[in-house]
Amino acid sequence: MKFYAVGIATALQLVSQASAQDGNPSPSDLENYWSYGRSEPVSNTPVAKGLGDWADAYAKARHLVSQMTDEEKNNVTYGHESTTTGCSGVSGSVPRLGFPGICFQDAGNGVRAADMVNSYPAGIHVGASWNKELAHSRAEHMGAEFKRKGANVALGPVVGPAGRLASGGRNWEGFGSDPYLSGALAAESVRGLQENVIACVKHLIANEQETSRNTPQLLKDSHNQSVSSNVDDKTMHELYLWGFQDTVKAGAGSVMCSYNRINNSYGCQNSKVMNGLLKGELGFQGFVVSDWTGQQTGIASANAGLDIAMPDSQFWENNTLVIATRNGSVPQFRLDDMATRILASWYKLAEIPNPGHGIPKSLLAPHKQVDARDPKSKKVILQSAVEGHVLVKNTNGALPLQKPKFLSLFGYDAVPPTLNTMDDSSLGGWALGLQTALTYPNGSSVSNVTEQAMFLSSTDPTNRGPGVAFNGTLYAGGGSGASTPAYIDAPLHAFQRQAYDDDTFLAWDLASLNPFVNPASDACLVFINEASSEGWDRPYLADPSSDQLVKNVAAKCPNTMVVIHNAGLRLVDEWIENPNITAVLYAHVPGQDSGRALVEVMYGKQSPSGRLPYTVARKASDYKGLLEPVVASGTMDEFYPQSNFSEGVYIDYKAFIQNDIQPRFEFGYGLTYSNFSYSDLESGVSSSTDLGYLPSGVNMTIAEGGYEALWDVVARVNFTVQNTGKISAAEVAQLYVGIPGGPPKVLRGFEKKMIESGKEEHYSFDLTRRDLSHWDVEKQAWGLQAGKYSIYVGKSVLDIQLHGTLDLS
Ligand SMILES: *[C@@H]1O[C@H](CO)[C@@H](O)[C@H](O)[C@H]1NC(C)=O
Ligand SMILES: *[C@@H]1O[C@H](CO)[C@@H](O)[C@H](O)[C@H]1NC(C)=O
Ligand SMILES: *[C@@H]1O[C@H](CO)[C@@H](O)[C@H](O)[C@H]1NC(C)=O
Ligand SMILES: *[C@@H]1O[C@H](CO)[C@@H](O)[C@H](O)[C@H]1NC(C)=O
Ligand SMILES: *[C@@H]1O[C@H](CO)[C@@H](O)[C@H](O)[C@H]1NC(C)=O
Ligand SMILES: *[C@@H]1O[C@H](CO)[C@@H](O)[C@H](O)[C@H]1NC(C)=O
Ligand SMILES: *[C@@H]1O[C@H](CO)[C@@H](O)[C@H](O)[C@H]1NC(C)=O
Ligand SMILES: *[C@@H]1O[C@H](CO)[C@@H](O)[C@H](O)[C@H]1NC(C)=O
Ligand SMILES: *[C@@H]1O[C@H](CO)[C@@H](O)[C@H](O)[C@H]1NC(C)=O
Ligand SMILES: *[C@@H]1O[C@H](CO)[C@@H](O)[C@H](O)[C@H]1NC(C)=O
Ligand SMILES: *[C@@H]1O[C@H](CO)[C@@H](O)[C@H](O)[C@H]1NC(C)=O
Ligand SMILES: *[C@@H]1O[C@H](CO)[C@@H](O)[C@H](O)[C@H]1NC(C)=O
Repeated sequence: MKFYAVGIATALQLVSQASAQDGNPSPSDLENYWSYGRSEPVSNTPVAKGLGDWADAYAKARHLVSQMTDEEKNNVTYGHESTTTGCSGVSGSVPRLGFPGICFQDAGNGVRAADMVNSYPAGIHVGASWNKELAHSRAEHMGAEFKRKGANVALGPVVGPAGRLASGGRNWEGFGSDPYLSGALAAESVRGLQENVIACVKHLIANEQETSRNTPQLLKDSHNQSVSSNVDDKTMHELYLWGFQDTVKAGAGSVMCSYNRINNSYGCQNSKVMNGLLKGELGFQGFVVSDWTGQQTGIASANAGLDIAMPDSQFWENNTLVIATRNGSVPQFRLDDMATRILASWYKLAEIPNPGHGIPKSLLAPHKQVDARDPKSKKVILQSAVEGHVLVKNTNGALPLQKPKFLSLFGYDAVPPTLNTMDDSSLGGWALGLQTALTYPNGSSVSNVTEQAMFLSSTDPTNRGPGVAFNGTLYAGGGSGASTPAYIDAPLHAFQRQAYDDDTFLAWDLASLNPFVNPASDACLVFINEASSEGWDRPYLADPSSDQLVKNVAAKCPNTMVVIHNAGLRLVDEWIENPNITAVLYAHVPGQDSGRALVEVMYGKQSPSGRLPYTVARKASDYKGLLEPVVASGTMDEFYPQSNFSEGVYIDYKAFIQNDIQPRFEFGYGLTYSNFSYSDLESGVSSSTDLGYLPSGVNMTIAEGGYEALWDVVARVNFTVQNTGKISAAEVAQLYVGIPGGPPKVLRGFEKKMIESGKEEHYSFDLTRRDLSHWDVEKQAWGLQAGKYSIYVGKSVLDIQLHGTLDLS
């Protein structure tokens, strides 16, 4: 689908065209508008130097660019319509010099909108696994599929949204609501993907709501502007930029700028963000690509640090950048740097001769089948699916199931959706078989996919039907982060196979809201989901009709187990305390091996090892200001919606602790089938640690990821964990630190280790200078303060097993 920008450069221009009388902003509105502040301009985009292991790629790129005409350089800086491939975007090529162009393909959870590919567990599922090695191998296998299809760039992973809003529509694409967790897993994902293709870390930055994210693009002739995320500099560094920093350190070859505005300046023309933070402070060596149709201006975006516009550019086509360099609006070095950055990433990571060869222009027409799958990926796909399951309730060892005689299954989420024909790729994720349970106000269901999309993108919560559950098992979320499954192993399928092995009698009613429950049932399993998609924020944190289904079954069955496929956090207080509900699993968004993975966990073939990567509240209002998106309203906000991030770094568990609110299930929480005891906490500070902001003893060279010295290890924390239970299980040990002046606890270490029954394992966490520093706005530097730092080691942010102090002096 293509939308064209209206080309409004600044609000000032708007006002000169409009008056309050015709419903447009008035000059006094504008005065208020600027009172929100503006992003400070940072001129002169840093020219990439080819730092570190980029040196060879830059040498090659400079050599090729030196042979290119300015027209050819301009040509590679924007997307061109392709007659041969269906890539999400294709850059211009330079046929004269043999540069074939670059194919960009959605997204971070598998190759989207193509056949002969696999659907991997989504970002939130990986977040819930807390497993860095697994995140790496998932990304490695996924990246190999992109490469076999001829995609040079995989459009993922996601570290923005950072999970600020409980109802954020794209939270499921990222790894959770803590920057340390998400940065660590995103960095591994970049390393894994980049064994085969260029990763694209998105969305830079503060892209925390879908509502009003891209108004000028979506509503032609609208004077409305995208939401502005107003973020102070300290919060920017300690929270929103943190994950990007980790991925730049990991060598990310590209970053995508976002639709929203930051301090009222659009993400793809925000020079403070791109020139200042990303390319300056973090020493980013790759290229910045716009989110699709996210480019709002020509000269301003080039000078602000945007390198390539997708999927096309009404601003940079027809050699306008060449003209702009000739008349002095864009410096020559900028055009050269744009082309050089793009080519350097290509040489270093993804020199694919025939871009997009395995991605047909139309899936509906006969096409060559390029099978991107590798049987070796099966193990990784299944294990990644297994480890994102989080067990949060398990009364009296209700789980694991042990050869039940009679099992009853309920709920629309146990079966695959009825459609997987990919017959309408223009609707993205929705077309990939994701039928929804949306209903019209008169009760009949919305079967027309175009109308479903309209419903779901509606900003009017009353126009969204009764729930946001998908009619079918939720193996992927919607929008560009959706992935295409080779098959869907739904829960019903997997339970059927297990029933065969165990001689279990299986009863099911997957349609009724108030089903008959056979009293002979040893256990009643209810499968529900909580769906989410790009393009809209969630109207509920718990779909009421699904809650009703759970309550109806629990009223009749004393051993009711609930499985929730949730793309985002989901509340359970409607029924969690019902004693008939004996087990509850957050099954997240597991990809195509959903059922098989669930059976692994529910039958105890593997102990559950997932932990919540977010906080589940008792009630929605406990999220306070971080529940819902800002909705444009009132005279000025109508045109320039403003979202003040005034909570600073206090999101998710940091906010709950600060506000002294007891959550239902805290960040880091998750049960296993075993028990663990923690002991022998030891910590030490490196004797050579220099305190302060820019201390003389440390290496202040800018490398990828920022100053080298930020990664110096300044302290280490050691402890031992023993498996005191009867079965082998993995334990995710977590380290939280209280940095003086900051939140009492911030995650600064985690590791998952398999521990055999009766055995113990040693955990050792290195703390870097950045890990223990705070960002000082005045000094514009990370500072390591003298003082006492509390350290907490535990099973979750609230379940602390060991407590100590680091003394920095
Ligand atoms: C956002 O911050 C600005 C500047 O401090 C202030 O004028 C405005 O009232 C705030 N908006 C909201 C909705 O809090
Ligand atoms: C946004 O404004 C705040 C407050 O003036 C400032 O601290 C921060 O650096 C600005 N960030 C950007 C990206 O402009
Ligand atoms: C620009 O890229 C397009 C699309 O790949 C290609 O057809 C065209 O020849 C290129 N133009 C130049 C001047 O190389
Ligand atoms: C601009 O935003 C306001 C407030 O959300 C909305 O009522 C109005 O319809 C929007 N205008 C256009 C042209 O979309
Ligand atoms: C480029 O040329 C095409 C064809 O003449 C025209 O439609 C389009 O508006 C031009 N774009 C720019 C930015 O000049
Ligand atoms: C320079 O060229 C660009 C691209 O054609 C144009 O948009 C801009 O107005 C020109 N600026 C000047 C000062 O002539
Ligand atoms: C869900 O899909 C089934 C077919 O699998 C259909 O019978 C049922 O009516 C659908 N439910 C809703 C609420 O759309
Ligand atoms: C319910 O409303 C929809 C949308 O207006 C309409 O298409 C459908 O026919 C209605 N169904 C019934 C049973 O009236
Ligand atoms: C689906 O809904 C759209 C928007 O209301 C309408 O234009 C289209 O004709 C509908 N398609 C079918 C097959 O009913
Ligand atoms: C639990 O299930 C039994 C049926 O076995 C039912 O009689 C009872 O009311 C249920 N309790 C609750 C709290 O739903
Ligand atoms: C932590 O354990 C490692 C490896 O066993 C050891 O080398 C180190 O000295 C220990 N550090 C502290 C602070 O205990
Ligand atoms: C500082 O770090 C850079 C980049 O890693 C390295 O090249 C340089 O040798 C280091 N300098 C010192 C004095 O250690």
